[in-house]
Amino acid sequence: MTSRASETSLRCRGKVVIVTGGTKGIGEAIVRLFVRNGASVIFCSKEEKADALEMELRELGSGTGSFIPCDVTKEDEIKRLIEETVKIHGRIDCLINNAGWHPPDQAIEDTSAQEFHDLLNLNVIGYFLTAKYALPHLRMTQGNIINISSLVGIIGQKNAIPYVATKGAVTAMTKAMAVDESQYNVRVNSISPGNIWTPLWEELASHSVNPEEMVLRGNDAQLLGRMGTAEECAKAALYLAVDGTFCTGIDLLLTGGAELNYAVKTQQKNIDHKYF
Ligand SMILES: NC(=O)c1ccc[n+]([C@@H]2O[C@H](COP(=O)([O-])OP(=O)(O)OC[C@H]3O[C@@H](n4cnc5c(N)ncnc54)[C@H](O)[C@@H]3O)[C@@H](O)[C@H]2O)c1
Repeated sequence: MTSRASETSLRCRGKVVIVTGGTKGIGEAIVRLFVRNGASVIFCSKEEKADALEMELRELGSGTGSFIPCDVTKEDEIKRLIEETVKIHGRIDCLINNAGWHPPDQAIEDTSAQEFHDLLNLNVIGYFLTAKYALPHLRMTQGNIINISSLVGIIGQKNAIPYVATKGAVTAMTKAMAVDESQYNVRVNSISPGNIWTPLWEELASHSVNPEEMVLRGNDAQLLGRMGTAEECAKAALYLAVDGTFCTGIDLLLTGGAELNYAVKTQQKNIDHKYF
């Protein structure tokens, strides 16, 4: 490939992108793909540092990736994340709200109001506040927001009332934001992944009685017979950020067909499929 061709294939050249929860799983894959495509990415997590990932990103060449610690359950830290980004790069073109958590199985009788509040705070209010403080800048660049939601926000999931409620809220909030922001030409979309193999999935499986069995069921829950990858989520995010210029308020299902055919996927029926 000539250097000119490789330059034109940098689909995010000159764009400033914030990714929350960018140190693991889906967020990390998004950070890598956007940096590879020439973006200046700021990514955060609750941890103090992400030196090893920052160093790897430097070696990727095309764009840049800088870590800023930010716990998205804390409004003052979110404000600082946005201010620092603008101080460093002078603009924001895209916000990707991804930092979230799925608790292990929770029956209603074992779930406290405080646990529900805490999850709402992380999975919904965190997305809301990051959008709130980024929007003045996104309006200036006519940028876009991508909220990572979940298929279970639409189809439900066993023993996961708070998680399902938070993801349903993210998908609905995305549409409401898309309506309000259309006047500024800011697009707001969500991605609803089904089962994606990430450290979070692995952690959830490790809490189950039979982790291997749970992974097998996780694979069987898709028509495609496997889980998705974090890289496939990153490609969907890149599409919405760069190419999906006529998409706003959409929820992109990234599920390997998990929701189709009345949930019947393979010969194995009546099993307790696990999604998140
Ligand atoms: N993996 C799946 O199957 C799947 C399916 C549907 C939706 N999702 C959603 O995708 C998103 C990413 O999931 P994942 O599987 O990559 O998870 P993961 O646990 O592998 O990674 C989550 C990232 O979020 C960060 N994070 C967690 N709490 C934070 C906080 N308070 N402040 C800042 N950062 C924080 C973590 O440090 C990490 O970088 C989540 O919103 C999750 O609900 C995942």
